[in-house]
Amino acid sequence: MASSRYDGVQITLHWLMALLILSAFGLALYINTLPLSPVKFKLYAYHKWLGISVLLLVLVRLAWRLRRGVPPPLAGQPAWQRKAAAGTHHLLYLLMVALPLVGWAMSSAKGFPVVLFGLIPLPDFVPRDPDLGDRLKLVHMLLAYGLIGLVGLHALAALKHQFVDRDGTLRRMLPQRD
Ligand code: HEM
Ligand code: HEM
Repeated sequence: MASSRYDGVQITLHWLMALLILSAFGLALYINTLPLSPVKFKLYAYHKWLGISVLLLVLVRLAWRLRRGVPPPLAGQPAWQRKAAAGTHHLLYLLMVALPLVGWAMSSAKGFPVVLFGLIPLPDFVPRDPDLGDRLKLVHMLLAYGLIGLVGLHALAALKHQFVDRDGTLRRMLPQRD
């Protein structure tokens, strides 16, 4: 990619997915505080729809990234920072795929299959098995907290580049104002 910025598709997907992921996370924490009720089940369904949307969008995003590539690192950036940024980005992509997949598998194992947007029943790719469901629940929780922790570091790094180093990193991921 010749440009030193991300393109419009990458920028839109980045911020849309950040919103969806943070909403799914916040909603899950809120659901945890509710007693068992029809409202709780409805909110779980919304949580699942948000998460499956993340899974679908990250596949589009990865396909786009393979086709278009990413802008080269800023000139003068030390090698360790380049490696840390690339490593973080790859891990973020991995978690954006793995976390919803594990959530989907957990739902199937627990016997509550996903009906996307209340319209499209998703297939079960693991058997109904409460013990497996419990194990997947733990994995889902660990991956979710891992993702949010990494996002925190990622956002802090972006803000440090913007306000301390003032090297224009954040501008690469913001719409261009001409
Ligand atoms: C970006 C995607 C997602 C994020 C950030 C996320 C995050 C979370 C978090 C933080 C919890 C609460 C864990 C705890 O402290 O107990 C949770 C629970 C849950 N998630 Fe997700 N999740 C995502 C995707 C999904 C998907 C795609 C599904 C299913 C299709 C799903 C199904 C569930 C279910 C059923 C629970 C409740 C588990 C229980 O308490 O029995 N999640 N999620
Ligand atoms: C759930 C939240 C977020 C996720 C999952 C996420 C994920 C990612 C990923 C995977 C990339 C690499 C893009 C690529 O090379 O294809 C990226 C880039 C970037 N993100 Fe985020 N991000 C999130 C939130 C944020 C926030 C809150 C900020 C700012 C405070 C931010 C600022 C940036 C910047 C500036 C870049 C470009 C870095 C560069 O030029 O090397 N992101 N993000």
